[in-house]
Amino acid sequence: MSDYPFFFTWSAQNAAKPLELVGGEGAWFTTADGGRWLDLGALSYQVNVGHGNRRIVEAIKRQADTLCLAAPNAVFPAKLELARRLLALAGPGFAKVFFTLGGAEANENALKIARLVTGRLKNIARYRSYHGASMGALSLTGDWRRAPVEPGLPGVIHVQDCYCDRCPFGQRVETCRRECATNIGDVMQLEGPRSVAAVFLEPVPGANGVLVPPPEYWPLVRAACDAEGALLVADEVLTGFGRTGRAFGFQHWNVVPDMITVAKGLASGYGTIGAVIVHERIAQHFDERVLACGLTYYAHPLACAAAVETLKVYEDERMFERAAQLGPTLRRELDAIAARLATTTFARSLGLLGALEIEAPAAAWTALGRELSARRLSLHVDGKRGTAIFSPPLCITEDELVTGMRAFGEAAVAAFGAK
Ligand SMILES: Cc1ncc(COP(=O)(O)O)c(C=O)c1O
Repeated sequence: MSDYPFFFTWSAQNAAKPLELVGGEGAWFTTADGGRWLDLGALSYQVNVGHGNRRIVEAIKRQADTLCLAAPNAVFPAKLELARRLLALAGPGFAKVFFTLGGAEANENALKIARLVTGRLKNIARYRSYHGASMGALSLTGDWRRAPVEPGLPGVIHVQDCYCDRCPFGQRVETCRRECATNIGDVMQLEGPRSVAAVFLEPVPGANGVLVPPPEYWPLVRAACDAEGALLVADEVLTGFGRTGRAFGFQHWNVVPDMITVAKGLASGYGTIGAVIVHERIAQHFDERVLACGLTYYAHPLACAAAVETLKVYEDERMFERAAQLGPTLRRELDAIAARLATTTFARSLGLLGALEIEAPAAAWTALGRELSARRLSLHVDGKRGTAIFSPPLCITEDELVTGMRAFGEAAVAAFGAK
C-alpha cells in the first residue's frame, strides 16, 4: 500500500502518479521539487483563466470577510450576479440557473429536471463521452469509466459518435449523410416514440478525443429532439468558457439547447462550482411545481465570488476571443507534428482544444510520458486510447503555445519515431 493517507482518482493506488503542486502563474505551474511546468492541459481542463490569478484570490478573500457561508435559499450579491452573467453568456431564452458543486452534479440535476419536466425515463448519450463520476452521470458516460460500476441508471441508451476520422457508419465526411446525427432520431423511434426525456451531448467530445462534429450535426440533433419532444442538453463542462473560441461550444452551430451544464472553467478551479443553465421553456415548468433538487452547499458564497471574478477576467482580458485567435496556431502545430510522425496520426481541434490521435503500441506511449516529464510539459495523455489532448489556459501567449507544441513534437518524435 502507498504511504499516502488518501485515494488517488481513476488509478490503482500503487500506480498513481502524485503531483506535488505548490503554485503557478499564467500558463505555468510549479512543483515541490522546484520544477516549472508548461500547462498544456489546464490541470484537467479547468484553469482556463490561468494559474495564480490575484484578482480572483482577492475576490475570494473579500467574500470570506463579508459572507463566508450561506443557506441554500440565501440571496446575496455574488449569487445574483453570477446567475445574471451566466444567463447573459448563454443567450436569449435562458431564464434560470441551478447551482451545483461540479460537473457530475450538474448533469445529475439536468437528468432529474428532464425527467420531472417530460415524465419520461429514457435518455440518450454517446459512447465516446464523459459526463461525470456520480452514478447518473456515469450511466450517461459512454467511455471506459462506466463499465466498472455497471449496471447503472436504467434507460440510458448509447449511440455512435461523430467520429469523422474513423466513421462508425463507414462513411467519408465529404459524401456522408450525417448518419451520426440522423441515427439519433432513428434510435428515438426504435426506443418507442416519445419515450426519450433528453439527449446529452458534449458539443465537442473532449477527453474522448476532441471529435469535432460536422456543422450540420447539432442542428440535425436539435430537429430530431424537437420532433420527439425530447430535451437537448449541452454538456459544456469541458468546452464552456472560451475553450473552443466561443463562450459555449454549441454557439458554433446556431442551435439552442434546453439545458447547458457547466463547471471547470466557470470558476477556473478557484472555486468548486458547477451549474445547469435552463431555458425558459423548461424553467417555467417549475413555477407552480416543486423542483425536487437541492444541495446544502448550493451557490456557496466563496465559489460564487470566485466564479463572478473569473467571468470578469474573461471579459476584461477578452480571453474567449484570444482562444479563437490562437486556434489556428494550435491547429498548424498539431498538423506539423502529425506530418512528422512515423505512425498514422489524426489531428483535430477547435479553438484552444486539440487532439492528436496516434496509432502506437503501449510501450511508445509510456516512452512519451517519460519524454514529457523530462521536458516538464503537462497535458492529458491517454495511451490506452491513443490520444494526447491539448487544452492550455486561455491566457497562454502565442510564443508559449508554439514553444510548448514544438517541445511536444520533439517528445513525440523521440517516443513514436519520425517518418
Ligand atoms: C464533459 C464533462 N462533463 C462532466 C464532467 C464531470 O465534471 P466533474 O469532474 O466536475 O464532476 C467532466 C469532467 O472531466 C467533463 O469533461
